[in-house]
Amino acid sequence: MTKFKRTLVTTALPYANGPVHIGHLAGVYVPADIYARYLRRKGEEVVLIGGSDEHGVPITIKAQREGVSPRDIVDRYHEMIKESFAGLGISFDIYARTSSRTHHELSSAFFKKLHDAGKFFERATLQFYDEQAGQFLPDRYITGTCPHCGNERAYGDQCEACGTSLNATDLINPLSAITGNVPQLRETRHWYLPLDDYEGWLKEWLLEEHADWKPNVYGQCKSWLDNGLQPRAVTRDLDWGVPVPLEGSEGKVLYVWFDAPIGYISATKELTPDWERYWKDPSTRLVHFIGKDNIVFHCIIFPVMLKAEGSYILPDNVPANEFLNLEGEKISTTRDWAVWLHEYLVDFPGKQDVLRYALAATTPETKDNDFTWKDFQARNNNELVAIYGNFINRTLVLTRKYFDNRVPAPGETTDRDREVLAEIPRVIERVEKNLDSFHFREALREAMGLARLGNKYLADTEPWKLHAANPDRVATILNTCLQVAATLSTLMEPFMPFSSERLRGFMNIAPIAWAAMGGDVLPVGHLLGEPGLLFEKIDDAAIQAQVDRLEEKKRRREATTARPVAPAREAIPLDAFANMDIRVGTILAAEKIPKTKKLMKLTVDTGIDRRVIVSGIAEHYAPETLVGRQVSVLVNLEPKLLKGIESRGMILMAEEADGSLSLVAPDKPVMPGAGIR
Ligand code: 2FM
Ligand code: ZN
Repeated sequence: MTKFKRTLVTTALPYANGPVHIGHLAGVYVPADIYARYLRRKGEEVVLIGGSDEHGVPITIKAQREGVSPRDIVDRYHEMIKESFAGLGISFDIYARTSSRTHHELSSAFFKKLHDAGKFFERATLQFYDEQAGQFLPDRYITGTCPHCGNERAYGDQCEACGTSLNATDLINPLSAITGNVPQLRETRHWYLPLDDYEGWLKEWLLEEHADWKPNVYGQCKSWLDNGLQPRAVTRDLDWGVPVPLEGSEGKVLYVWFDAPIGYISATKELTPDWERYWKDPSTRLVHFIGKDNIVFHCIIFPVMLKAEGSYILPDNVPANEFLNLEGEKISTTRDWAVWLHEYLVDFPGKQDVLRYALAATTPETKDNDFTWKDFQARNNNELVAIYGNFINRTLVLTRKYFDNRVPAPGETTDRDREVLAEIPRVIERVEKNLDSFHFREALREAMGLARLGNKYLADTEPWKLHAANPDRVATILNTCLQVAATLSTLMEPFMPFSSERLRGFMNIAPIAWAAMGGDVLPVGHLLGEPGLLFEKIDDAAIQAQVDRLEEKKRRREATTARPVAPAREAIPLDAFANMDIRVGTILAAEKIPKTKKLMKLTVDTGIDRRVIVSGIAEHYAPETLVGRQVSVLVNLEPKLLKGIESRGMILMAEEADGSLSLVAPDKPVMPGAGIR
């Protein structure tokens, strides 16, 4: 039937420079997990590979912004991401990282093999160099004026104001983002993979042999190939990454997009000594789950690398998804416009399946899709609770009530009962067909259709009204419902593994294999377990809290865009700071100064004395909330007369871009007069 004996499922390795959000989940990890769980339940041999992409400029930029090392960044986020994926039940067989030794060795050897076989060529180009920092500058490290729209803060690879892709040399007045100096052009040598040499092969392998790939994937590949491919540099001047394993190439590393996909191979190698069976035996089906921004790398560049290497299999499918938006806006890590997985898991404990369901139901399969909190709530309340959960709960509660919690023997069946039972194998087949062709949304809709059918059957037959007069009829109805419920415990599992596990507990059954579904899985007389609620309603307040959080982010963002954070002022010698005498003081009394909007008269114990300070915080704090609070006071500021009051000193405040003020206070009580340095 199929030439494949096993499946190797890979998921895009997220950069370990930030947490994972719902966009990543809907596009890549939830579909991949559904697929892997489905195959496992079918008893197929499958591994699900994941891991952190820990190299490249995205990591070094984050490190530089925070003033820490790239290693600090990847260590922090690798753990965090790994944990949150586990929290959502993404069933990776391994979650590896590209900073591992195995990965460095394998990607070095891969590069070396291609190099020695003459698959690359070397070329010298001019690149910006920062003399003071002593390094070449990646495009992202160069800022300047966009030649298209005049934005003065465009990057060397892109202007975020007008969206144009740029070359660093296009920028007007380029500056190094590291030192702020004017960078110089310097010659550098790199290794290039001649993608153009593989065009003929790609057209045949991809456009002809894989014409069955999803239209969004196929279309993007075709357009790349129609436009003609260019050689790609596979090395970079950077000190973070896999060092180029050739003599005389100090300061150069493999391009992150060269080593990252090799990460799938090295992760498999870490997982099992048998890794070559997965990667070199043509009876392995290799499937890459990715987002649309990764298509060219997985459908063109990585296959060319694998082809050039010669001993590895090629992907059988790359079911890339489009993007998920959030409340109508593009998800953005830099703008903090996202629902973060680690926060969701804290805010909605025990509700992993609700997110999995909502995301699987809105997978952006062929075009971008939108996540809204209202839709999330509706899917939970109107579908999971009202249909699936209600069906299960009623079935189990009625069986307990009428049949001592045991599966009743069915009596004579009617057409209606037979119709329901006959639908089970048909639904299973449709779910399978959709999962096999990566139509996850439709697969879930079909599976949910069975719960809907069961729920309607119960509502229509109303066994609770029949029990006294016709217990046999009730036994038949409940037996039918229990068969449907048992089927659902497996059918829904790839999508919602946590509730399937709970459902099996309620029914006191072991996992049912995919092929056994629909058969006689619940023998008459089987004792069920303790019934419980499969899903619970999510109230408006919980949803409103999430919407408010997003609104607050938007408000802050708008305030910041209106008044951008000022750049650091000119450097000062330490003395200039030491001249400021800043102490911890305790506020003893506070009163608003009449006829002013902003001013407050504060009496402060500075440890040195008790003094009056006039402060402009009346719009931000009520006087009674200030008494007793510790604050930072500049005590040697010249006295000044304000509204007829002599103010001696200044209370220090943090001022945000939107003008809101916060007291700056020690984080535990200290003696008034303590110096702040
Ligand atoms: O786009 C990204 O987030 C990349 N880190 C994906 C890499 S996928 C693979 F090649 F590792
Ligand atoms: Zn621009």
